[in-house]
Amino acid sequence: MSDKIGIALLAAGKGTRMKINRPKTLAPLMGRTILDFILDSLKEFSLKKQLHSSIGLVVGHQKELVKEHIENFYPEDKKIVLAHQKEQLGTADALKSYFHDVKGAWDKDYTFVVCGDTPLLTSYVFEQMYELMEKESSLDGVCASFYADDPAGYGRIIKSPIGFQIVEEKDATNEQKQIKEVNSGLYLLKTSFIKERLALLDSNNKAGEFLLTDLFQKDFQVKVMAFEDSQTFLGINTLEQLEQAESILRKKKTKKLQLSGVRLIDSSSCYIDWNAEIEAGSTIYPNVVIEGKTRIGESVVIESGVVIKDSEIGPGSSIYANSYLEEASVGRGVSVGPMARLRPGADLKEKVKIGNFVEVKKSTLHKGSKVSHLSYVGDAEIGEEANIGCGFISCNYDGVQKHKTIIGKRTFVGSDVQAVAPVKIGDDALIAAGSTITHDVPDGAFAIARGRQETKEGFAKKFPVFRKKKS
Ligand code: UD1
Ligand code: MG
Repeated sequence: MSDKIGIALLAAGKGTRMKINRPKTLAPLMGRTILDFILDSLKEFSLKKQLHSSIGLVVGHQKELVKEHIENFYPEDKKIVLAHQKEQLGTADALKSYFHDVKGAWDKDYTFVVCGDTPLLTSYVFEQMYELMEKESSLDGVCASFYADDPAGYGRIIKSPIGFQIVEEKDATNEQKQIKEVNSGLYLLKTSFIKERLALLDSNNKAGEFLLTDLFQKDFQVKVMAFEDSQTFLGINTLEQLEQAESILRKKKTKKLQLSGVRLIDSSSCYIDWNAEIEAGSTIYPNVVIEGKTRIGESVVIESGVVIKDSEIGPGSSIYANSYLEEASVGRGVSVGPMARLRPGADLKEKVKIGNFVEVKKSTLHKGSKVSHLSYVGDAEIGEEANIGCGFISCNYDGVQKHKTIIGKRTFVGSDVQAVAPVKIGDDALIAAGSTITHDVPDGAFAIARGRQETKEGFAKKFPVFRKKKS
């Protein structure tokens, strides 16, 4: 079969049934979008069959957002070409826009037509259709179908001895609505067949749209190829269907992790994004959320209730219950939480310890340093083996600007200390508990900055609480 195949990916629709404020194809899915999953399988297929097809992505509704997504996530990819459907007049009209805008599209021998809302499609499906067309060269095309337990919303396949037709839900009679074989919206067609048929379509149907499904008439040489796995073709028209797709992909992801040696104590309660990586030997407790491009090394323990977004966790580290990490970098053998918060720019080097109710933002904590309880560390640098006592605050904000706190190696900061930034405390220094440090402290110095204690013997009884009542 010729490798002259064009790919039309239809993604211009309004996605009205989704009720989200972005194009349906960009609906979030496992930390990515519907579109990314479709592009993955199309690329895998092209690679397997060594095709050089470009992908004509038809955009319309909020097209700038799709364009921006492609520019951000596929900057080097010259194979994705955008076509513009000016008005959303239906799927057949979207295909017209593809041929209108994508250079050389009419010159391809075959055209794959793919809906931009079917994220579970696999390369296998494309390969099967391709191989059928390869075998039966007299065919004008192949349409992928599947059997749906609940066919509502899908076009029904109406078969006859000489072919088939597709009737959309809105146009179907009650009897036709009982048919469970439905149209997947995926077709591989001879481009000449499309050329002949596309111009003849009208919008005389209940939706008042130009329907791609009207391409097929009983007597044409187009085969329906029924696939067994209905999940693969799940079309996302509603948020409920989006949830279905997400739970299928989530199961796939956790299964893959388990096979690679990650222990998930209750995979059904964990939400791990598609691009998150976890190495073998790690244990994930129930109710954990791991999002974005998070990378977790080997033998890491993540306890319940932890949320991790776009962070790195080094080997052998433990993240204890209910901690929240965002764009943080955690080195080897680090201990975080329970109930700690690492905000963007938190950079914890090897063997650092962050205890309960500690918040760290845009700060580097060097090897072996400890902030064990109830502290705020923002815009700070904490030296190796430094020990920061309970209730430390880096006062980093003067209401206008942020300032830096630097604490040296092995320095011991007592409890309830505030460092009013900008301020620098040297190596091997000692800061007395309850101090408010406003001036730099040199290496090896002891600093105390609090009111002196006065103790007055026998004075307590002068206060109302101890004053004797007169009888
Ligand atoms: C479509 C099929 C239906 C099939 C189902 C499978 C048609 C007429 N119906 O229905 O038979 O069972 O998919 O999931 O094709 N789009 C445009 N421009 C438009 C309209 C739609 O680009 O003017 C795009 C959408 O963005 C979407 C795709 O075409 O990615 C399919 O449109 P959608 O509205 O989801 O069609 P369905 O009602 O699901
Ligand atoms: Mg759809």
